[in-house]
Order: sequence, then structure tokens, then C-alpha cells
Amino acid sequence: MTTPKKLFIKTYGCQMNVYDSERMVEALGGEGYVETKSADDADMILLNTCHIREKAAEKVYSELGRFKDLKAENPNLKIGVAGCVAQAEGEEIMRRQPLVDLVVGPQSYHRLPAMEKAVQQGAKALDTDFPEDDKFDTLTKRAKTKRGPTAFLTVQEGCDKFCAFCVVPYTRGAEVSRPAAQVLKEAQELVDAGVREITLLGQNVNAYHGHEKGLAGLIWALDKIDGLARIRFTTSHPNDMDDALIEAHGTCTKLMPYLHLPVQSGSDAILKAMNRKHTAESYIRLIERIREARPDLLLSGDFIVGFPGETDQDFEDTMNLIREVNYGQAYSFKYSTRPGTPAAERAQVAEALKTERLANLQALLSTQQRAVQETMVGREVRVLFEKTGRQEGQLIGKSEYLHAVYADAPASLIGQVVPVRIIANSPNSLAGQCIQ
Ligand code: SAH
Ligand code: SF4
Ligand code: F3S
Repeated sequence: MTTPKKLFIKTYGCQMNVYDSERMVEALGGEGYVETKSADDADMILLNTCHIREKAAEKVYSELGRFKDLKAENPNLKIGVAGCVAQAEGEEIMRRQPLVDLVVGPQSYHRLPAMEKAVQQGAKALDTDFPEDDKFDTLTKRAKTKRGPTAFLTVQEGCDKFCAFCVVPYTRGAEVSRPAAQVLKEAQELVDAGVREITLLGQNVNAYHGHEKGLAGLIWALDKIDGLARIRFTTSHPNDMDDALIEAHGTCTKLMPYLHLPVQSGSDAILKAMNRKHTAESYIRLIERIREARPDLLLSGDFIVGFPGETDQDFEDTMNLIREVNYGQAYSFKYSTRPGTPAAERAQVAEALKTERLANLQALLSTQQRAVQETMVGREVRVLFEKTGRQEGQLIGKSEYLHAVYADAPASLIGQVVPVRIIANSPNSLAGQCIQ
């Protein structure tokens, strides 16, 4: 038997990259690779990259620079760049960093085995096409090995929305949905491997149209899979929340009461300049309707501060929207200029002002987040235990609301949904006691 080659893969960016990394490991598994957790003993290093903000993209080059010594020690080491920086910068990566042997864009992962063979022959391999052949027709089966209780499943890719700040429509291409039958087969394989909770992924997951009844239709089809306990989905766009999906939040018991619904800004002028195609008011009305269907829904959002043209009043409008909605969770960012996007050409807000606004916004959001967590204390939630905690005898899992919950429990409960009483609130998690 030949000794397996070792693949070290480092993942940046969103959950879709996490999913893609798993699929790349599986694709290269067929070429005799096994995953290693350390770059030091790897035969191949792959960076699965993110281009969303300048910092994320620049990190790739500093990380690549650190592999110089490894490559000097092991001339057979192959280095590859995958993901959104690969798609956006292509050949430029090899020019800037000659250590790189392989550059592969997100739509070409099924071609990795052939690319790997080419680099073993000493060639450089580059593929940043948006190929006609669908990668999922090649990457058909999931690995049969036993898995943890939660998994991501990409059902939709790409984006046609072209928000004025965002690179995703350029790095991931046009919106494409995987056929429901293909998704259901993969979901069944995941459940057979021990998965109890599936998070459906897409850059605009609720624009999914691989099922005749859209994302809600897919959720209801997944609901029928025995052994699957929980369904989540992310990320959604406000304009694609249709009636059936809103209703499913009230009627589908496997669909968890947590919704990530980014709004970016609370100012209509900024929303218009961002090309979001909705207003602050329409977003708030939408939230009201979803909360009517599912009153205990925990809402999460994304915010950008310092978008070109954002005035003090625009920023105050965002703060007011946050006060009105009351988020249980949120992600917020300073606007970052991205090459090739329309907003990059506009007059920019001063960095110091962005920093100040971000601090104010994050203070408000974290107050809300703590308060929502505080309301959980004394309540009974259901926790899907995922793994052992830091302390002996402790397990950690997630509640319906995606809060991390610690409780004393035997390891045999990993993979089970267990009733738990919340007894304490700490900054990033809740402590609970199992209810017997
Ligand atoms: N498809 C999702 C989000 C994709 S990117 C949606 O439409 O909501 C994730 C988040 O990164 C965005 O919601 C936005 O808040 C942030 N983001 C995207 N481009 C950015 C930029 N140029 N600068 C700062 N934040 C950005
Ligand atoms: Fe980017 Fe907007 Fe598309 Fe989301 S909807 S991925 S923010 S362009
Ligand atoms: Fe980043 Fe690409 Fe995801 S730019 S956020 S890895 S879609």
C-alpha cells in the first residue's frame, strides 16, 4: 500500500467556504490524500480564501509568504489557492507569489484531481472558469465516514443582486440552484453518517429555485427525512422572503426559530445607494410578519458602517432601526473598498469616523445580544449536543436559537436533542442543566 499524501487546508470567509473545503478534501481523497491538521507535514497546502473585505484578501498573501520555509525544506510540497481570491485575482496570485502551484475558483473544484496530477508533473495549474459542466454532477457522493451532529449543505450559489459594495456576484457568478433531488440525496447521506442538523447554505439561499415551491418546498421535503432533527438556512435577502417561507417558520417544527436577515443600513438614502432595492420600513414590516408567524424567532443581521455618502443622520437611522428590531445576534463591518464594485469609485467616509460609528453600533448590538441571552435564563430550551466541553463531564451544543449552551451531561448524549434549563448567561454562551 502506498502511504497517503497529506493535505492541509485552511478556510477563510463564510460557511460556504467551510462546505467547499470539505468537498475539496473529499475530491482529493480520491487521489490518495488524507487531511492533516498541520501545514508542517503536508504534501499539499490549500488556502480556501475570501475576498469580501480588503483585510481578508490581503491575509492570503501574508499567509502564503509564511510557507516559503516549508517549501525550501520540502521541494515536493504543492501550494494551492482556492476560493474567492482565486476567482477574483487568478493568475495575478502566481505573479505576486511564485510559490503557488495551483489556483482554482469555486466553480471548478471538481477539476481538482486533474489539476493535482498536472502540478505533480511540475506544471502550474489555473482554473477560474465558470464551467458549463456542473461540479455537483461530478462531486456526487459524500464520504461515508461517521460525522458530527451538524453539517452545512450548499443548495444555492452565486448572486444576481449586485449590491454596490459587494464582490460576491463577481467571485461566485450568477445565481444557480441545485436540483432538490440532488440536495435530498446528499441530505440523506449526511443523516446516514450521523448528522442531526443541516444548515442549508447559499449566498442568497432564499432565492433557491431548485424545488418548484422554492426554499420552503425544499425545507418541507427535508422535514420528511427520518433522523434529521433540525433545519436551518443562511444567508437570506429580505427581497426573497416569500409567503411560504415565512409561514414555514410557524408551521415546520424542524425549522429552527433563528433567522439571519441582513439589512446593512437603516437609511433609505444609503439603502438606495447600496442598490439593496428595499427600504428600512419594508424591512421592519417584513420582520413583523415573520415574528407573527414565529413570535420567539431570534433575529440576526449584518451591518455596514461608513458606506460612501453616509451622514451622521444616516448612521442614526441605522441605530434607530436596530433599536426597533432588537437583534439577538449580529455581524457588523466598516465599509471596505472593493476593486471593480460601483461604490469603490465614490467619495469615501474618513476612516476615523468609520471606527467611531462601528464602536457605537457594536456597543448597541452587544447590549441587545446580552439582553436577549438574559431572557433565556430560567427558560427551558432544547439543545443538540455536539461535543465535549472544556470541563470534565461537560457537553456543549446549540439551542434552537443557536445559542451555545454548556451543561453537565454524559458523552452518550452527543448527537441527541435534550431539554435543558438555562441557569446562567455569560458573554458568548449560556450555562444549563439537563432536565431529566
Ligand atoms: N449574501 C449575503 C451576504 C454576503 S457577504 C447578503 O446579501 O446579505 C456577508 C456580509 O459582508 C454582508 O452582509 C455585508 O454586511 C458584508 N460586506 C460585504 N461586502 C462588504 C464590503 N465591501 N465592506 C464591508 N462589509 C461588506
Ligand atoms: Fe453581496 Fe448583495 Fe449579493 Fe449579498 S445580496 S451576496 S451583499 S451582492
Ligand atoms: Fe468571502 Fe467568498 Fe464567502 S468573498 S464571504 S468566501 S462568498
